[in-house]
Amino acid sequence: MKSILFVCLGNICRSPIADGCAKKYVLENGLDIKIDSAGTGSWHVGEAPCANSIKVAKKYGVNISNLRARQVTKSDFDNFDLIIALDESNYRDLERLGAKNLVKLGIYGHNGADVPDPYFFKEYDGFVKVFKMIDECVSNLFAEIK
Ligand code: 4NP
Repeated sequence: MKSILFVCLGNICRSPIADGCAKKYVLENGLDIKIDSAGTGSWHVGEAPCANSIKVAKKYGVNISNLRARQVTKSDFDNFDLIIALDESNYRDLERLGAKNLVKLGIYGHNGADVPDPYFFKEYDGFVKVFKMIDECVSNLFAEIK
């Protein structure tokens, strides 16, 4: 395993958290794995993660403020060994685009559950729950691929 791409809808709420948690894990464990994230949609390309994602990540020691949203491309499917969708709708969109080696993040310890989209809820509490779920799944993912 040399590279992992996390994909959600906008690449501003959920996948930046997964990206940040995974990069932190890679750094702390001296692994040589490229980590990136992207969105299936283009609405937020070039934007920083949403304020609540930056805030909750910071609270748990993960700095994601420098990330910028980008849209997934077909070349990503050749350039990454593993593509990880944050929910079922992202999974289906990626499947339709031709993604290979595609899984859902929730298979790593959450029975394949979707990571809920906190974008339309806005409350910070929702982001704490989402962060904890993503962080757990990312840890389980690395435990599995080691
Ligand atoms: P994300 O959240 O997929 O976790 O980044 C969303 C961000 C933007 C939108 C939807 C979800 N949107 O509709 O613009």
